[in-house]
Amino acid sequence: MSFETLKLDLSGGILTITINREDKLNALSQQTIKDLDGAFQKVYDETEIKGVILTGAGEKAFVAGADITEFKELNYMNGRKFAEDGQEVFAKIENCPKPVIAAIKGFALGGGCELAMACHIRVAGSEAKFGQPEVNLGIIPGYGGTQRLPMLVGKAKAMEIILTGEMITAENALKIGLVNHVVPKEEVIIKAEEILNKILNKAGLAVSQAIECINAFYKDGDGYQTEANAFGNCCKTEDFNEGVSAFIDKRKPSFKGK
Ligand code: COA
Repeated sequence: MSFETLKLDLSGGILTITINREDKLNALSQQTIKDLDGAFQKVYDETEIKGVILTGAGEKAFVAGADITEFKELNYMNGRKFAEDGQEVFAKIENCPKPVIAAIKGFALGGGCELAMACHIRVAGSEAKFGQPEVNLGIIPGYGGTQRLPMLVGKAKAMEIILTGEMITAENALKIGLVNHVVPKEEVIIKAEEILNKILNKAGLAVSQAIECINAFYKDGDGYQTEANAFGNCCKTEDFNEGVSAFIDKRKPSFKGK
């Protein structure tokens, strides 16, 4: 399966998804949103994919926002649908049972910052810039930014970033908890691979359950109950037996994802 606006490359269980509209700074067109939905469906469905790196083509931008040239026709009804469709795809990324790391070079603005926030972990190049500049266009973040930004950085900082529309540096993004790591831009993919490979060495089902439980903290319902159920699920797995046996036998575990 190929996608009009994405490049996919599978190697060693890691699927690198590259948003491939470099001349438009990888702006998220409606086609890109559809393509991301299709690509993440593959991630859910295909057992040979163990984890994902999401990045943008070129050096200048991860994603410079939703494609502003498609905004002209928006009104209340289709604007609302526009936001709901994007939110659904970003939720699919956030709820993905396999780890997803954003590798960010250059601008991560508007929908780009929101896309990065939907990923489980973010690695940024030292020259990267983050922001939610939607107020400059007379709109607000619509792909989950008003919800995920306060989750990551707290209410006060989220208010300032969204209400002023100003960009922040990678260094400041690291300070406030918007990104996990800042590295020289040539090392962004290497660092993302390093983290992903560490995770892929663990028991895959435990990793999936942990993602679900951490996400449950931010949803309605009883996160402790979700955690208890997930803990029970892990106890049913072969990998759990293997992990405990390996510890007792003083050897490295060999997990099978079962
Ligand atoms: N939607 C559509 N096209 C975009 C875009 C977006 N969000 N961001 C950049 N582009 C396009 C530009 O229109 C330009 O296309 P062109 O060469 O056909 O004219 C191309 O990408 C390069 O961008 P340009 O503005 O020339 O680069 P720059 O280095 O001068 O500025 C930015 C970079 C990121 C500061 C600037 O492009 C920008 O402000 N983009 C919009 C950011 C934004 O508001 N995002 C939120 C949208 S809700």
